[in-house]
Amino acid sequence: MTQDELKKAVAKAAVDYIAPHLQSDSIVGVGTGSTANFFIDYLAELKNEFEGAVASSEATADRLKGHGIPVYDLNSVAEIEFYVDGADESNERLELIKGGGAALTREKIVAAVAKTFVCIADESKMVGVLGNFPLPVEVIPMARSHVGREIVKLGGDPVYREGVVTDNGNIIIDVHNMDISRPIHIEEQLNNIVGVVTNGLFARRAADLLLLGTKDGVKSIP
Ligand code: 5RP
Repeated sequence: MTQDELKKAVAKAAVDYIAPHLQSDSIVGVGTGSTANFFIDYLAELKNEFEGAVASSEATADRLKGHGIPVYDLNSVAEIEFYVDGADESNERLELIKGGGAALTREKIVAAVAKTFVCIADESKMVGVLGNFPLPVEVIPMARSHVGREIVKLGGDPVYREGVVTDNGNIIIDVHNMDISRPIHIEEQLNNIVGVVTNGLFARRAADLLLLGTKDGVKSIP
């Protein structure tokens, strides 16, 4: 199977997982990226069975609206039962690196609100220790150099992601070669740097369920 076929398989599995729980007033939280896009396309088949969605990016909002799924501002929503999103890496504890698509801050906010965070990923994303994928950090533009220097003090190699402006008007610094053997600790240390909006470690709020696409089928973890 190709990587896209594995992504489609987990996207479909996620829709099958949440479908029995959807009610006419349900709001679904929706992530960003190619796997999330496949999820949106399958979710659209059920669009008359739930109220609408909260999007983690402008791109996701556009795709949802393109399918005729109403998109709500998070502030107007009382609760989100499920948040479904992809990841750049996951470990066995379902701690994640996210933000390859620069949507990490809104993704983290929607994940924080959701009761259940369902991560969907192909098997290439499963790792023993996080950190092979450069860790994205969203930064207020004027703090770029300061944040870079502080990241070096923490043992990482900061690389400015040229030409990328987030939906929030900020920049992304990708951190290479960071020791992420203690994900919660690193997540907190990075977030403590003045000028950091947030970073792409989802460890304090890890996923609750990982649907992993493998050549032997979709595995549910735990
Ligand atoms: C976007 C993300 C994505 O979930 C992550 O980059 C995975 O993307 P894809 O599903 O395209 O492999 O965090 O900010």
